Amino acid sequence: MKVLATRRYPGPAFDELADVEVRPLSELQEPRPEVEALAVANEPVPLELLPGLRIVGNFGVGYDRLGIEQLRRRGVAVTNTPGVLDAATADLTFALILAARRRVVEGDRRVRAGEWTGAWPDGFLAEELTGSTLGIVGLGRIGRAVARRAAGFELRVLYTQRHRSDAALGEFRELDELLREADIVTIHAPLTAETHGLIDARRLALMKDGAALVNTARGEIVDEAALAAELVSGRISAGLDVFAHEPHVPEELLPLANVVLTPHLGSGTRQTREAMTEIVVANILAFERGESLLTPV
Ligand code: 8YV
Repeated sequence: MKVLATRRYPGPAFDELADVEVRPLSELQEPRPEVEALAVANEPVPLELLPGLRIVGNFGVGYDRLGIEQLRRRGVAVTNTPGVLDAATADLTFALILAARRRVVEGDRRVRAGEWTGAWPDGFLAEELTGSTLGIVGLGRIGRAVARRAAGFELRVLYTQRHRSDAALGEFRELDELLREADIVTIHAPLTAETHGLIDARRLALMKDGAALVNTARGEIVDEAALAAELVSGRISAGLDVFAHEPHVPEELLPLANVVLTPHLGSGTRQTREAMTEIVVANILAFERGESLLTPV
């Protein structure tokens, strides 16, 4: 089966694909009817150029940019990589929470700029993390991994959840309540029609003065212009790994000390990315053998 992969995905599992061509979708000029499988990282699938496509192996748990409805209508199977990236994403969430609360990046910049002169930097005080209240928007697999880590920091955990289940990991709140109560709000929901723009200007205004917003999910879940305005005002702080128009980052954020910016690193560890490749490849090979898919969407 002819496989097109939009890049060489990391790890040895990639070499198990026998007939694979590595090429970014932007380089496809004319229809490629012989391609039956596509390995892609949440990029729009150009079905008009891939008329023979039968399976899409998405390198990532989120598949919001694939064009899933069109793929479904055309009967193309789609798989994703749930589970293996929960720990890495939850770890990065805590990196951003700690960076935002403890002003780690700002402190680093001060040291490099030669601004650290006294025994300690007078007036450079941060907010304590231990004992504060964490609001988790979306207590799914990744949200739960964040909640488990929160216990180690003695955080009080509040959460919203689409399909409410009895979670011993914290206390359920309606979203507006969670935003009013939390010192740190962290987003772990998928991007859907329901969550697009979920954290709008009105909801951002509900956050406490001095609270922090962390987003490792999808930029579009937050009204980016409204968030930028809140950050420019200095009322809240943020740790952002995702943006509405990646790799574009709103320019007004760049000079701000109260926001930490990372380039969509959530799943970006060697171990996790290799595990993601294993799942993509295993799904494509299972499909080729006529076996059931491991992680169908
Ligand atoms: C990216 C992610 O997919 O899994 C997701 O939903 O956002 C990430 O893992 C990955 O970085 C490739 O785009």
